[in-house]
Amino acid sequence: MSSSKIKAASNASIAEAARLLADGQLVGVPTETVYGLAADATNPVAVHKIFQAKGRPANNPLIIHVDSPESARRWVHVDHPRWLADQWQRAAAFWPGPLTVVVPRSADVVDEVTAGAPTVAVRVPSHPVMRSLLAACEFPIAAPSANPSNYVSPTCAEHVRQGLGDKVAMILDGGECECGLESTIIRLQRDGVELLRPGGISVEQLQDAFGSVKLAQRAGKDDTVESKVGNDAPERSGPLEAMPAPGMLAKHYSPAKPLRVVAAWQAEEVDPSRVARIVFAPLPDCEAARFGWYRSLSRTGDLNEVAQHLFTAIRQADATECSLIVIDQCDRSGIGRAIMDHIDRASA
Ligand code: TXA
Ligand code: MG
Repeated sequence: MSSSKIKAASNASIAEAARLLADGQLVGVPTETVYGLAADATNPVAVHKIFQAKGRPANNPLIIHVDSPESARRWVHVDHPRWLADQWQRAAAFWPGPLTVVVPRSADVVDEVTAGAPTVAVRVPSHPVMRSLLAACEFPIAAPSANPSNYVSPTCAEHVRQGLGDKVAMILDGGECECGLESTIIRLQRDGVELLRPGGISVEQLQDAFGSVKLAQRAGKDDTVESKVGNDAPERSGPLEAMPAPGMLAKHYSPAKPLRVVAAWQAEEVDPSRVARIVFAPLPDCEAARFGWYRSLSRTGDLNEVAQHLFTAIRQADATECSLIVIDQCDRSGIGRAIMDHIDRASA
């Protein structure tokens, strides 16, 4: 049974995970954002297994995880020019934490990780189990979110087992992810930084650190921002550089059931008894009782709690008999931007 592959994090299980990775195998690992599908980033055969296990297009590059900004330096070129060195320093101040930085790569990075691109995405995670694992490994860890391509990212070990249990040697259980959304991805550029994916670090935090942040505008819509990279980018052909905007398609990660924001749902179309309703703060009991299934993500509407529980709730709603998932909306500020970015994609 693959449930036996889940091992509670301990010195022994972390050491075992490090051995499995060194042996070229795949391990499900906890991070503060979402669970990752880990492989030795310096082993092309092991990295290839990630793409196979997820059903991920080979031209969608991976993030490499390192234990400190210093150990990142072997894999990146950030000393020159001056603006790049300066921005790198500002970015590194967010580490350890949920920020991924796209920068020019060094020749030491294996091509399988970057899908042939001249850049590499790097981050220093803060989850204590992931940090112990990185300390136990003599190599950086390549890890996408540990879900089959195009499905919702996993925020606990059981989600990893459900999606990829037969593809991994082991799943290291580090509890429920604290952030619950993926890392924010930025590209460093001379005239400021460009947001490629909203996530655990808010645009406001980036603005404070970098002065300005370029947001990708969604074609045809007013001021909504769309990630330039997906959770798992869609099928596409050709090398990354041939893509004008990697992962620009709206629907990247979705439940199997249709999902609507509450403003777009009409009770005449789908009866509440057929609706799985996800709210950010509790509804009065009599209102909640109308729905086929109901879950509140926070007692107070706290958006950090909403982010933490969002993916679990979408998975649960997806597993009900209901025919439609209807979810709340929030302002696109702070963590709300990343929450709404995910909801937009799931409802696309
Ligand atoms: O929170 C996270 O970032 C999680 C945890 C496990 O660290 N990882 C994660 O990885 O979300 P993944 O592969 O699911 O999403 C990473 C995104 C992909 O859409 C990929 O296209 C983009 O990062 N990416 C990776 N390398 C890139 C590069 N060199 N240039 C532009 N985008 C890149
Ligand atoms: Mg992903």
